[in-house]
This record gives sequence, C-alpha cells and structure tokens, in this order.
Amino acid sequence: MAFGGDYNPEQWPSAVWADDVTLMREAGVTLVSVGIFSWAHLEPRPGEYEFGWLDRVLDLLGEAGVDVDLATATASPPPWLARLYPETLPVDRDGRTLWPGSRQAYCPSSPVFRARAAALTEQLAARYAGHPALALWHVGNEYGCHTTCCWCDTSAAAFRGWLEQRYRDVDALNEAWGTSFWSQRYGDFSEVLPPRATPTFGNPGQELDFRRFSSDEHLACFVAERDVLRRVSPHVPVTTNFMAHTEVVDYWTWAREVDVVSNDHYLLAHQPDNHLELAFCADVTRGLAGGQPWLLMEHSTSAVNWQPRNVAKRPGETIRNSLQHVARGSQGALFFQWRQSRAGAEKYHSALVPHAGADSRLWREVVDLGVTLERLAPVLASTVQADVALVFDWQSWWATEQVATPSVDVTYRDRALALHRALLRAGLTVDVVPTPSSPDELATYPLVLAPTLHLVSQPAADAFRAYVEGGGSLLVTYFSGIADERDHVHLGGYPGAFRDVLGVRVEEFCPLLSGEQVGLVDTDGSGAGTADVWAEDLHLAGAEAVLTYADGPVPGTPAVTRHRLGNGLGWYVATRTDDASTAALLHRVCSEAGVTAPYDVPAGVELVRRAGDEATYVFVLNHSPEPVTVPVPGVDLLGDGVSEQEVRLSGGGVAVIRQDRSG
Ligand code: GLA
Repeated sequence: MAFGGDYNPEQWPSAVWADDVTLMREAGVTLVSVGIFSWAHLEPRPGEYEFGWLDRVLDLLGEAGVDVDLATATASPPPWLARLYPETLPVDRDGRTLWPGSRQAYCPSSPVFRARAAALTEQLAARYAGHPALALWHVGNEYGCHTTCCWCDTSAAAFRGWLEQRYRDVDALNEAWGTSFWSQRYGDFSEVLPPRATPTFGNPGQELDFRRFSSDEHLACFVAERDVLRRVSPHVPVTTNFMAHTEVVDYWTWAREVDVVSNDHYLLAHQPDNHLELAFCADVTRGLAGGQPWLLMEHSTSAVNWQPRNVAKRPGETIRNSLQHVARGSQGALFFQWRQSRAGAEKYHSALVPHAGADSRLWREVVDLGVTLERLAPVLASTVQADVALVFDWQSWWATEQVATPSVDVTYRDRALALHRALLRAGLTVDVVPTPSSPDELATYPLVLAPTLHLVSQPAADAFRAYVEGGGSLLVTYFSGIADERDHVHLGGYPGAFRDVLGVRVEEFCPLLSGEQVGLVDTDGSGAGTADVWAEDLHLAGAEAVLTYADGPVPGTPAVTRHRLGNGLGWYVATRTDDASTAALLHRVCSEAGVTAPYDVPAGVELVRRAGDEATYVFVLNHSPEPVTVPVPGVDLLGDGVSEQEVRLSGGGVAVIRQDRSG
C-alpha cells in the first residue's frame, strides 16, 4: 500500500532531510511526491539547471527504501518566466492579468510556457529515468485548479483554432451556438472571442465550447510532458493528480491519457456527514479508473488552510478517511504534505509531521496509519464490487450550472450525492460511469441512475432506451435529458431525450422559491415526505404516478413516476425529494430491480467489498460515535487474526474482514 505524501525538501535546510528520512522510516512511508513546486529551484535562471540538491534528496530516499513519485515541477513557473515573457500570464474573464506571487500563473495555451515546461521535463527525464527510487512520474499538479480557463489573446487565437477544427465552417458554428439570437451571427472565425465579460448573459453554446476547449488545452499541456517522459523512460508510469470533486476539466477525456488515475480529496468542514461526499468522490475516481485500482494522491491528516474555518480532524478520523478511500479502490493513502511548512501560504495546513513535531497525537496517528496500511497489503490484488451504476458527466455539470437557468438552486452534484448517500446507507455500492454510447456499457448493471444528466445526445438517448427495453431499470432525476450536446433543447416536452423511456411529458418547469417546500403523497393518499427546489407540470404518457404533489404550484400532479418499457422500468423523479423520501423510493426501485444489499448495515456504518481471486475483503467503517455490531463473518485484518461471525466496532472504529473463497 502506498503511504506518504508531497515532500517539499526545498523548503527546509538540508540538515532537516536526514530527520525526514528517519521519520519516514518510523512511520512506514513507502512513496513521496517530490518537486511539484520546485521549478524555481531546478531552473533558477532560464536554461540553467541545478539538480544537485534533488540528486541528494532522491539518493537519501532511495537508500531508505522510499519510492519517489517525481514531479515534472511545471505546476508553477518561476518569476523569471513572467518577467521575460509577460504574455505567459493568464488573464481572467474581466481582462485582468493574474500576476505571479501565488502559483499556477500561466496561460495553458501559451507556446512559451509549453516549450519551457517541456524543456524542464526533458532534463528531469534524462537525469532521473534510471534512478532506483523513481516509481512514478507526476506531471504538473491539479491542472485547472486555479487557472481553470484563460481569456487572454493567446487563448483567444487558440480557441478560434480549436473551433475551426471542430466546425470547419463558420455557419456550422453559428448553428451550434444559436447565434441568430441577439445578433450574434459571425461572418468569419476571426470575429470569435472567448466568452469575456459581456453586458449581460453570454451565449451558452460559446461558454460550453470554451469549457471543452479549456479542458483540452490543459490536457495538451499534460500530454506534451507525458510524451517526453514516455519517450525517455517508457518503463515508468505517468500520472497527474485529478480533483474529481470539481468541474474544472472533463475528467473522462483525461482518464484515457494517464497510466495511473490519482486523485486529491479534501473534506469540507462545514458539511455535516462529510464522509458521505468523500465516498462519492472515491467512487467517481474509481469510475475514471474504469473500475480498476487508483491512488489517493492527496488528502489531509487534519485541518486545511483554505476554508473559512479550518477544523482539525478528531482522533481516528484520518485513519477512517484513508480507509474509506482504500475501501473504494485506492491502493494507499498519500497526503499533502510530509512536513508542515514554516512559511508560505500553507503554513497552517496540516501535514504528516506537524509544527509540534513527532511528540504529538497527530504523529502517533500517522505511525498507526502506516502500520494499518501495511496490514492491508493483501487487499491490493482486489477490485471493488458494486451493485448499481450512476452516470456522471462533466459537460452536463457545466451546462446545468450556467447562468440564466430556471433556478439557481439546481446544482449538478446535488442529486448524485443524494442518491449515492441513500444507497451507501442501505449498504449498497455504486459504480460511477460515463454517459453511454451503447447499451452494452450498462448491461452488467440491473439499475442505472441518471441524476441531473442535462445534456443527452440522440445516440445516448437511444442507448438508455435500449438498456431499459432489454430489461434494465433506469432512474432519472429532474433537469435531465433537456438538451443535446450543443445545449439545444429537445422539443416537444421535457425531458425530451427521456420522454419515451420514462412515459411522461412535461409542459413546464415550476421551480420553487427559496425555502419553499411541497408535500408528497402516496397513491393511497398518505403522506410521503416533502420536496423543495423544483416541481414540474408533468403529464403521464404511459407511466403511472408513484408520488403526487399535495400542494405547491401543481397540486395533484405526479412528482415521481414509474414506466414499464419492454422488459425494463423507467423511473422519474421530477422534484427534489428529501432524504427520507429518496431512501424510501430507492428501496422500492432497488427491490423491483432485484438489487439487494449483501448485509444489513446499522445507521452510520459504511460497508464496501473488494474482491480478489482468493478472498473478499469487507471494509466496515463506523462513522457514528456509538459502538455497533455488524453481521459480517471472517477475519479482521486489523484485529487479532481470530475468525468471528460478526464485527463489533467501537464508535469511529474500522475493520477489514477477510473472507476466504474456500471458507
Ligand atoms: C491541493 C494542492 C496542494 C495543496 C493542497 C492544500 O490539493 O495540490 O499543493 O495546496 O491543495 O489542501
């Protein structure tokens, strides 16, 4: 199991490095990411490279048996790049230049930035390709994190080139963007700009293509460096750390380009039960890895420094968080960062070695985590067993959260998280999948969820339909299937792309006011919980009503429907049901689809299975403060080796139960 984190030795006198390595050995650290922000140290002046310090660091780590995930160091250019080439600086939507002084101050379309980054990568690859400590290449860092898009003139020219490739002639672009509206019609590609600040709402098609373009530009930066590494050191895998919880780039297109999918995840302290969001992001990451193992590149041992109030993790929490990621497919747990900085903007961000030093509760927990991960080595050769699929789509995320939509309260991840947590609480595991282009991609799942899948092309609509006709169950939530891949509305009633699968026809959206709630009733008239945010003037067209609005803008109208089509079922949830109603609905949907949880799971407990050739490993994580008993038989890898019929966990406790195939 990989265990370690970002190691930034350039922030410390070299005398500290020996202590670092001693402590790494004490904690059982196996892998560190070196040099992510070291460009200014590695190339202090243009074309003058200083590798001596990095040679010593890699040798020290290698001698200590710690593997290195070596960065290409291009995540943050040194100040000289901006001084010599000010055109490499990014520009925001309002035309303001973003200056050096923090990080990631570069335009992803800048040929100068790309050439300089490739040159440094070439040097690093040539020098370290054969180093015994080198295990993995780490290109850039969190592409798009701060400079998600750049609106400068260089980007504008690159955007026009990208559009010419995509549309060939300007009338095709006019058609795709619907430029007959508001006199936006272009006579030539040279008139087109990125969506800079405008007097009022910009063109949604332009915005959507600009997001696609920006994702592709960052990806081109990654690919250029990756190709250098693959040429010079074909035996060493290449990664870049994703942020699967963000909308910055289209990670489905990125996932195809990396050798190892790795991800960063940080809890939001103000969110109640934030382990649920962690679980979802881990599943998204496993989806990006095609169900195969992946690597948690960064999380935090305790507080971060970038939230308004940076809450410290409580004892046991960092181990529990780490094991959640491992349960959901990570091959270890890495952190930002090894040693807490003394200076700089992240000095209040926790680390493995805190300011207090090794005589601290936090360090002792870090050492415990090292022991825990070592015991979980057998889990490496296993993959997560899921019950249900959930379709996730970055382009729908962008389209859903554009300006001038029916309600600002409709946010992309909201329903995905709601469905996911209901299933997690029911003891079920979700695979996250892309929008299908053929029904075969969904065929292994008895139940598929499509939350807020706003953009659905005709081929995707056909794939969903064939999946249901062939016997699958599909559950769709509101604001899905509304528009095609150009963000043009499917006409004839909502949700256009899903109308026949779901057997409904919606004449009008009826969003609710902030704080407004509607009651829901069952077919027998009994109360069935509440909903908020959204309602629709929905008409049945083959489906039956499951729940109906008791009040609100469309009383008596169906809010949840069920439609038999061919051998399958199409369920539609036309409103934002509360958690209890969502859970009750999913209970019914799952049982009709033949999806059953392998174990009864008490409240607050998360249960995930990873299966290998010889054994299945059941992760049982108690997020509640109360002790629990869960009827999972087997041997706890973290316990005393005795086989039991059930797991008893203290509040916050974790067990990983091995169940041998033979037994
Ligand atoms: C990101 C970055 C790290 C660090 C952490 C802080 O994940 O990749 O360099 O800034 O955030 O949480």
